[in-house]
Amino acid sequence: MIESFDITVRDGRAVHIRAIRLEDEAELLQAFERLSAEARYLRFMRVVREPNMERLRALLASFPKDGIGLVATAPATDGIDIVGSAIAVFSADRASCEFATTVAAAFGGVGLATALMTALIDEARRRGLKTMEGFVLAENQPMLRLARRLGFSVAPELGDATVRVCRLRLDNP
Ligand SMILES: CC(C)(COP(=O)(O)OP(=O)(O)OC[C@H]1O[C@@H](n2cnc3c(N)ncnc32)[C@H](O)[C@@H]1OP(=O)(O)O)[C@@H](O)C(=O)NCCC(=O)NCCS
Repeated sequence: MIESFDITVRDGRAVHIRAIRLEDEAELLQAFERLSAEARYLRFMRVVREPNMERLRALLASFPKDGIGLVATAPATDGIDIVGSAIAVFSADRASCEFATTVAAAFGGVGLATALMTALIDEARRRGLKTMEGFVLAENQPMLRLARRLGFSVAPELGDATVRVCRLRLDNP
């Protein structure tokens, strides 16, 4: 069970971080619609115009057994907006997990991805995962800087010069 918590981001706004729920589907779709074409490309490493509903539903259904899903929410006129997310998908042997994170442009650069990724890493450690890795486009310097700051090693992906592999050991103190 993931503990939810509140944070104040660097510009003073309040954000709530909690586990993703099945009922978040509609808000997640709205968050996807708000992403720029560039942000979508950086997140999915290819041009994505439409959300893949089958994949989104399978992902939501896989939590918490086969992965960790976190969202950051902020108050909005119609309730809440999802302004960030961080997920980790477990490998079949549950030794490693693959992360992905996205933060809404309106909440960029105020420490939200740092907070989400820190919570994701803590939870993956608590669940006994040994490593966390993520595939990031070489051009995505903000994400690579963030990964390095969090302690990930960054290495070229064999056979694909456009991709970097970020890896973090979770089983050392
Ligand atoms: C990459 C991405 C997740 C970063 O999210 P973010 O919330 O803006 O990241 P943070 O705010 O935690 O960190 C960004 C910058 O703010 C700075 N910052 C954040 N909080 C800070 C604080 N409290 N004090 C000082 N600096 C701070 C960081 O140093 C960092 O600066 P740098 O990139 O110049 O080194 C976001 O841009 C994004 O969603 N991109 C599109 C999708 C994507 O690329 N996802 C990654 C693929 S998995």
